[in-house]
Amino acid sequence: MSVSFSLEGRLSVVTGASRGIGFAMAKALAEAGSDVIAVSASIPASGSAIGDAVEAAGRRFEAIACNFADPAAVDELGRTLAGRPVDVLVNNAGTIERAPAVTHPLELWDRVLTVNLSSQFRLTQAVAAGMIERGRGKVIFTASMLSFQGGVNVPGYTAAKSGVAGLTKALANEWAPLGVNVNAIAPGYIATDNTQALQDDPVRSRSILDRIPAGRWGEADDLAGATVFLASPASDYVDGIILPVDGGWLGR
Ligand SMILES: NC(=O)c1ccc[n+]([C@@H]2O[C@H](COP(=O)([O-])OP(=O)(O)OC[C@H]3O[C@@H](n4cnc5c(N)ncnc54)[C@H](OP(=O)(O)O)[C@@H]3O)[C@@H](O)[C@H]2O)c1
Repeated sequence: MSVSFSLEGRLSVVTGASRGIGFAMAKALAEAGSDVIAVSASIPASGSAIGDAVEAAGRRFEAIACNFADPAAVDELGRTLAGRPVDVLVNNAGTIERAPAVTHPLELWDRVLTVNLSSQFRLTQAVAAGMIERGRGKVIFTASMLSFQGGVNVPGYTAAKSGVAGLTKALANEWAPLGVNVNAIAPGYIATDNTQALQDDPVRSRSILDRIPAGRWGEADDLAGATVFLASPASDYVDGIILPVDGGWLGR
């Protein structure tokens, strides 16, 4: 049996594709053969860097702006995408708010839970309905080390990412028999805007680095291989996993 990592002729939707991890995931999917619809809060309809990267790989590109803090906008996006033959949905858009738990403003808690968990579920319901009808599809969530651990000063983020891990398994249980693989990637500490505050704090930055067996912070491109694997036929018998890509952080 030959193993296929090819995404030739596939259509992938990547949320949070304007920058950081989502950018690297969308680029990797295009390089593996997939057309890409990129979604983010502020992505322009044309002229984005991710659009240039996808087209440079010879694939078709489309951008849709959608604010995941707005449930009505997510439902509208879901209706738009329900009409498209989406093969791969990467639920990667996410935000983080840092404040000590005892004074953590509830509005930050609500926003993080909405963007990072509830909107992911709404959109996945809408897109997966078509996948189930076609009997084929790949759903990939971006989880976190805080799907396994508690973190510090990020109670809403941890609750949301732990929820993403549970949701991944719950959906996999229902949809694996229907031909739809649902899995998650848990990035370790990756140098993006999301972790800028940690990178800028010399004490936190050093203590994080000291715990990473690979001896470096991750780059967004470190997520490319796992993304293509979980989007491709090579992972057809992989369901409900949370795949760490963390330079060994969790094993330490
Ligand atoms: N960096 C890490 O170490 C790390 C580790 C574990 C998990 N993660 C997760 O990885 C994912 C990507 O993070 P990143 O590190 O690449 O962060 P990033 O560089 O800050 O990128 C965040 C992406 O999400 C989009 N986004 C944020 N809020 C949104 C909203 N309300 N509606 C729609 N799109 C929104 C942004 O769109 P705009 O550009 O339009 O604002 C951007 O494309 C997130 O789910 C994050 O929690 C990151």
